[in-house]
Order: sequence, then C-alpha cells, then structure tokens
Amino acid sequence: MGRIPDELVDKIIHESDIVEVISEYVSLKSSGKNFMGVCPFHSDKGPSLSVSREKQLYHCFGCGASGNVLGFIMRIKNIEFIDALRFLGEKIGVSIEQKKEHTENPRFKLKDEMYRINIEAARYFFRNIYNVKAAYNYFLSRNMEDKTIKKFGLGYSLDSWNSLESYLAKKGFSKDIMLKAGLIIKGKNATYDRFRNRVMFPVFDYRGRVIGFGGRVLDDTKPKYLNSPETDIFLKGTNLYGLNFAIKNKVPDSIIIVEGYMDCISLHQAGITNVVASLGTALTESQAKLIKKYTENVYVCYDSDSAGKTATLKGMDILQNVGCNVKVISVPVGKDPDEFIKLNGVDSFNNLINNALPIIDYKIHLAREKYDLKNMEDSLKFTKRVAYILSSLNSEIEIQYYGKKIAEETGIPQSSIIEDIKKLKRKNNYYAKNNEEEKENNVSNYKIEPAFKKSEQMLLTLCLKSKDYFEYIKGRISVGEFITPFYKIAADFLYKRLENEEKIIPNSLLGNFSTSYEISEVSLIFNKVVPNDISTDLIDDYIKVIKKHNIEDKIKSIKIQIKKYEKNGEKQKSLELFNKLILLQRQLDTL
Ligand code: GTP
Ligand code: MN
Repeated sequence: MGRIPDELVDKIIHESDIVEVISEYVSLKSSGKNFMGVCPFHSDKGPSLSVSREKQLYHCFGCGASGNVLGFIMRIKNIEFIDALRFLGEKIGVSIEQKKEHTENPRFKLKDEMYRINIEAARYFFRNIYNVKAAYNYFLSRNMEDKTIKKFGLGYSLDSWNSLESYLAKKGFSKDIMLKAGLIIKGKNATYDRFRNRVMFPVFDYRGRVIGFGGRVLDDTKPKYLNSPETDIFLKGTNLYGLNFAIKNKVPDSIIIVEGYMDCISLHQAGITNVVASLGTALTESQAKLIKKYTENVYVCYDSDSAGKTATLKGMDILQNVGCNVKVISVPVGKDPDEFIKLNGVDSFNNLINNALPIIDYKIHLAREKYDLKNMEDSLKFTKRVAYILSSLNSEIEIQYYGKKIAEETGIPQSSIIEDIKKLKRKNNYYAKNNEEEKENNVSNYKIEPAFKKSEQMLLTLCLKSKDYFEYIKGRISVGEFITPFYKIAADFLYKRLENEEKIIPNSLLGNFSTSYEISEVSLIFNKVVPNDISTDLIDDYIKVIKKHNIEDKIKSIKIQIKKYEKNGEKQKSLELFNKLILLQRQLDTL
C-alpha cells in the first residue's frame, strides 16, 4: 500500500455512500434499518443482500460476500484497489491522480503512454469508418449494428502508408512510442503504418484498456488477420478478447470461449454476453487461469473443422487442469458461431448451449464420427477407443455408467468393456507413478481454511458485541497472539479503541486494507450474527485453538533447530532447546 496517502483513501471511503453506490447495480428496498436486494455475486433470486447505511457495509447471507463500498466496487467491476478509488473519487469530485507516485517510475510511464497512444489510435480508426463507405459497408454486410460498432470500437485503417503516423505525430506522440506500441514499422528508409486498408478490432484487457489491435482484410486476400506485435502491454496468450464486456455488470455463471473476433462480437450483439475469444491461438494456461478467476463453468465453442477440434481437445485439458468444469458446444459442420447465429438465431444457439457435451461425451462423440458402427470391425475399434477414453476416469460410478451406454450402443457385453478399461487403468497407473510427486505438490497448493482463522473472526466479532466480551477476551489473548495478518491488524485496532471506549466505525478499520479479500474477511466481524448467550467455555475454546496453533508452530521450528544442533554436535545448545521443547509441550497439554 501507500502509493496513495491514507487520508485520501479515508476521505473517498467516508464521503461515498454505500447505499447510493450499490443502488446503481442492485435495486435496493428499505427494510427496517437496512436495505435489501438480490446479491450480484452469486446466482440468486431472493433478496439475500443486506446493505447497512449506518455501518456502511454490505453482507450477503447467501454467499457470504461482505465489505465496504470500496470492496463492493472492486468486486463488481473486477478492478483493483487504485481503480476502485479512482472510480469512487470521480463520483465525489476527488482526484487521486496528482498524488500517484507511480507515474514517476519510467516503466509505468512507458506503459501509460502506450495505453494513451492506443486509445488515440483506436479513436482514429473508429472515426475512419464513418468517412470510408467501404469500411462501414463491410461491417453492415457482416450484420454488425451501429451500436455494436460503437461498443467494440470497431474501425478502419486507411489505405495509406502514413496516415496514422502523421495523425499521432500531430497529437504529440513520438516516433519512438509509435514503434514501441507496434503501430508503425521501421522500413529500410522510412517508417510506415502497420495496419493499412483493414477493418480494425481494438483488443481490450479485462479492465477495458486498449492493449493492441487486430486488423482484417475486407476481402479474401491473405493474411486474413494482422495483429499487433507483442509489446510491454500486449502479451500474447495472457488475454481474452471480450472479457471486459463479459464481466462488466455482473460476474457471469459461466463463460463461453470462441475462436474469433467476429464470433465473440456476434454473440454479444445477440445478447449472449458471457463470451470471450481466445483469438486463434490455442488456449493457454494463463488464459484458463484468467477465466477461473471469474467462474469454473466454461463452454468451449470452436469451429467444427479439424483444427477447431484439435484446439478444443487441447483447450479442454488445459481448462480441466486448472479446475474448470468444461463442456463443448458443437456448432454444425461448416459453420462458425458467428455464421450459425446469423443463420439460425439466438434461440438455436441457446439450444446448442443446452446440448453441450461434457468432456468424456465429447471425446466419445468424436470417436463415433470416425467409425461406421454397423460394421463389426469398426464397432470393435470404436469400443476399444472408448475404453481408452474411459480409462482416464477415476470414478467407478462413471465408468459403469458409460460402460453400460457403450455396451447398449455396440452390443458388446458391458463386462468385457469394463475389463478392458480396468486393464488400461492399471497401465496408466504404472506410468502415472513417476508423476506422483508432482501431483502431491499440486495438492498442497489448495488452500484449506485453517481453524484458527475462524476463531480469530469469532473473537473479534464478540469484542464488538459487548464490553464484557471484550474485557474477557482481552484478558486472555494478546494482539501478538493473533495469527492471520489482517486479523492481527484488526485486533490491534479494536483493542486500542475499545479500551478507550471509542465508537468503532467499520470503515476506519477497513481503510487499512487494499484487497477485496481482506476487506471482505475483516468486514465479516461487523456482519456476523452471533447468539446472545455465548458461554465463556465457547470463548475459551476459540482462544485455545489460536494458542494451540502458536505453540505448535514454535514446537515445529524448535524441532528443526534441534536437529541442526545435533548434526553439528552442539550438545549443550540442543539440550537447552530440548528443555524449552518440553516446556512448550506441557503448555500444550494444559491448554
Ligand atoms: P471471419 O473470417 O471474419 O469470420 O473471422 P473470424 O473471427 O471468424 O476468424 P477465424 O475463425 O477465421 O479465426 C479465428 C481467429 O484466429 C481470428 O479472430 C484471428 O484472431 C485469428 N486468425 C485468423 N486468421 C489469422 C491470420 O491470418 N493471421 C493471424 N495472425 N491470426 C489469424
Ligand atoms: Mn468467422
């Protein structure tokens, strides 16, 4: 933190009204002291979101989302701390810009300059389509409505060698930055515009900043598309086209991945807005992780040609490996999603979505296409192929389920199919053993909520509830004993103020945090509903969990240290530590 002065952060949070801000996204009804609405962070129809004007906090009883106005904006717009501050600041007429140190850092400066030049170039291309009939007509011929052209900032690069360059020069941009942004190219004798006589697609990042361009020929010449080169802000394979629009108003329940610019735009135009495009290249792990940040449910909807099928299979594996539930939307042969929806309409496309196949079914479906099941020999080959596909399954239930289905389809006994699958599985396991270690490492990446965190949360909630609870807790656990960093900060804050019987304003505490996760977790202590009759036994238990963790932590590190001393033959030192260890172990027993 610290780039922006704390006072400014405080000012923006305190002067924004959470009820007003949230009302722009959720329709709120007053209900007693609070306001209620439908939570935008999970799919729900009931009014589970509660907003408190008094506390300046929101809380969802359904999904547990919590936070202050800043956290809400970060989450709903999927933007970072700084951007949320800027956004809220603008609303109340406070600018954070002059205070920002980062513009002085040359690396940030270069990037900022590249975003600025790209936006300027995008505006220029955009204006061109209203001057060049052929360009506008091209989009019309592809069924693009005017409002779609505006929304996606579609444009046209003139059939000229230097028009963009001279335009940008007039705007005060240097040749150097034009080159760095990949908008012009250095030839032998002179520089020239990279994009000429192409319809232009600005590429946005998830925040809606223009990071590069794609340009398409207006006819059938090759190459069909020309893209910006890699630059400091345009890193190939890390971005998804259309994501900024897909997450704009609400995080969608699922995301559909298509291949091309036109597919993405057409579907958005038809009102299917949870669509992003991977832009031709095979989906990368970094793109898969980007999606996973928003939703686990992913549909892959690539072209039905063989390149599309290969890309689909590869993409599915990558998505599955990062933990997504993947289904495949198959568009009838010869069509891409853009053409399909143009010809058949949005209802038919929704039908395709509803009939999307899970990975295994899709793989079986592809195998089925290759064989003529009326032919005995083919039928056997098909069954073997399916057995191989099914051998990747770990669930016995699924194996039996698919085994039965294939048995019915081919007339080959289910038991034989299952036996084949089992054989293949044993083989797989043999090969997989070598990778076991790697897998174990991956497992440890999953974060499991430690028990002490819940205890810390409860204790702080109780401190806020009554003076008696506070006195009781403060007498038994010190700030230093809190473990989770943000709860330690919260404990310090609360202990100091409650001792002096000061009123606690949630936002004064929340102003110490800059990620929506921290804000949400700390807000919970203001939002949690606790019964009135919590016994001291229960409080003691919460405290015990935390103390136990602290002691166990110490024991762990002492054991390591003892081993080291023993290795070096430092008997005296190891003995001293050993005594300490025993003391700690006793403490643990008497907790
Ligand atoms: P239309 O032919 O206009 O419908 O394009 P499309 O968006 O349907 O593209 P297509 O399915 O042919 O290709 C998918 C994506 O691959 C495109 O959106 C581009 O990002 C990329 N792509 C296609 N052709 C080329 C090419 O010639 N060069 C490069 N660099 N990328 C391409
Ligand atoms: Mn197409």
